[in-house]
Amino acid sequence: AHRRLILAIETSCDETSVAIVENGTKILSNVVSSQIETHRRFGGVVPEVASRKHVESITWIIEEALDKADVRPGQLSAIAVTEGPGLIGALLVGVVAAKTLAYALDLPLIGVHHIAGHIYANQLVHELRYPLVSLVVSGGHTELVYVEKEGSFRIIGQTRDDAAGEAYDKVARALKLPYPGGPHIDRLAHEAEEALPLPRAWLEPESYDFSFSGLKSAVLAALNQAGMKGLPIDARAVAKGFQDSVVEVLVEKSLRAVQEYGAKQLLLAGGVAANKGLRQQLADRCASAGVPLIAPPLSLCTDNAAMIAAAAHLKLERGQLSSLELKADPALDL
Ligand code: KG4
Ligand code: ZN
Repeated sequence: AHRRLILAIETSCDETSVAIVENGTKILSNVVSSQIETHRRFGGVVPEVASRKHVESITWIIEEALDKADVRPGQLSAIAVTEGPGLIGALLVGVVAAKTLAYALDLPLIGVHHIAGHIYANQLVHELRYPLVSLVVSGGHTELVYVEKEGSFRIIGQTRDDAAGEAYDKVARALKLPYPGGPHIDRLAHEAEEALPLPRAWLEPESYDFSFSGLKSAVLAALNQAGMKGLPIDARAVAKGFQDSVVEVLVEKSLRAVQEYGAKQLLLAGGVAANKGLRQQLADRCASAGVPLIAPPLSLCTDNAAMIAAAAHLKLERGQLSSLELKADPALDL
């Protein structure tokens, strides 16, 4: 069969990643250079620092991805890149690198939406069946996406304030846990015996939107109050109370969307997909509803270029190519 090799680049946030994927499903290499150590002392991603780090690493990461895949540039079929959304300075580095490669190698260029990438990460591990619903939860995103057929996306719900992962990181910071705090809260929540009672943000009854800033404020208020009264703070109970609230709302809204839209599968994507509580509850509820839950391994849930290559492969098949005029767009629509 014809071997279609896509080199994809992802630089929308704080991971510099380059992957080579064969025929949309076979990962030959997927190099991810994380800047977490650099940003940790600031307690979050600093956009200007992220851009500079991408510039420093992009060239050698492209070389490493080719080396690991044992592929020569002349064997490539197309160049793909995340065109948005994300941090503008970070996106620019990937887009300029991709345009340069496409021009120099005379290859088609394919711009990919970052969320489409997260969704199609699932295509690297499972066959997809439409219509489907995908829950994308990361440090930058919280979206419920209805995918009626391949390449047709509709955001049916999204966060009105903080992303789920962002809320995790902020609550972790208040508990003096290291950045990124999601995994630490997850662990503490599982060790907890009781949960601090906290509110759930259901919003309007019909709404698939999310809101996490009120919950975060409730946690901060509880911590402040305990501090003022000189009471000890049970970080485990706080972590469990917070996690229970986030997970319950994510799970209820996802399952309601699956029912209303007659989805044949529920896809999980984004870094918060690593959350044990979320995975467990979604798995239980999907099992009772008779809907397959699909979640890629963690390395494909967090930002990586293989997912961009997977989404790009579908666009290449459909002939949806970009021109060399492609622009990075920090607020790109899905
Ligand atoms: O997808 P990702 O690597 O980067 C973005 O595109 O944002 O997601 C990172 C986010 C961070 O906010 C991190 O705290 C969160 O995912 N995260 C978790 C867990 N592991 C990572 N949140 C909750 N529970 C976890 N186990
Ligand atoms: Zn992402």
